[in-house]
Amino acid sequence: MALRKILTMDYPVLRAKAKKISRFDPWLDRLVQDMWETMREAPGVGLAAPQIGESVRVLVAEYEENKVALVNPEIVKTSEDRELATEGCLSIPGYVGDNVPRSLAVTVKARDPKGKEIRIKAEGWFARILQHEIDHLNGVLYIDLIDPKDVRPVSEDEIVDEGEVIETEPSGKGKRAEKHGHETEAKETKDAQEASATSRKAGGGR
Ligand code: CO
Repeated sequence: MALRKILTMDYPVLRAKAKKISRFDPWLDRLVQDMWETMREAPGVGLAAPQIGESVRVLVAEYEENKVALVNPEIVKTSEDRELATEGCLSIPGYVGDNVPRSLAVTVKARDPKGKEIRIKAEGWFARILQHEIDHLNGVLYIDLIDPKDVRPVSEDEIVDEGEVIETEPSGKGKRAEKHGHETEAKETKDAQEASATSRKAGGGR
């Protein structure tokens, strides 16, 4: 296993349509292991292969109780309901985007790294993260989905993660929390993240 460099958006590979995986071989196993390691070190909740310079359709995501490594993922169903929220991206450090539209729920068909077909039903923030990562496989970044005016430097009271932004002080603008009624959820998420960051630092590898 190896830690890989996370590329920023000036690398053309982030704008390319990634290729489908056709062989479930040791190279793929190693790639997935490297992606888990690189994502956790960042730390992040999701990572797509193009972000480490591999133009193939592979992503990893870990959010609360959900943990998936998906090969050749395809969104086969989306909810009609959409939601606007603030997103960050490990490949666009220092910035966030407000009002990024995503479907509230998605069903994703994919293969696992051994080649077995799987189907994932996701909603809420996990659904948002999967949509963000699948976009990466098509060379799409969140900045493509919003008005340029909604891209801004991250503020002090925000924790930025791949596909999501958490406010540390809901008393401030409390923008996302109030607007979308996720205030409690946002706090719980932050606590969960801190807990998992602590366990990572303590060497609690999974
Ligand atoms: Co990203």
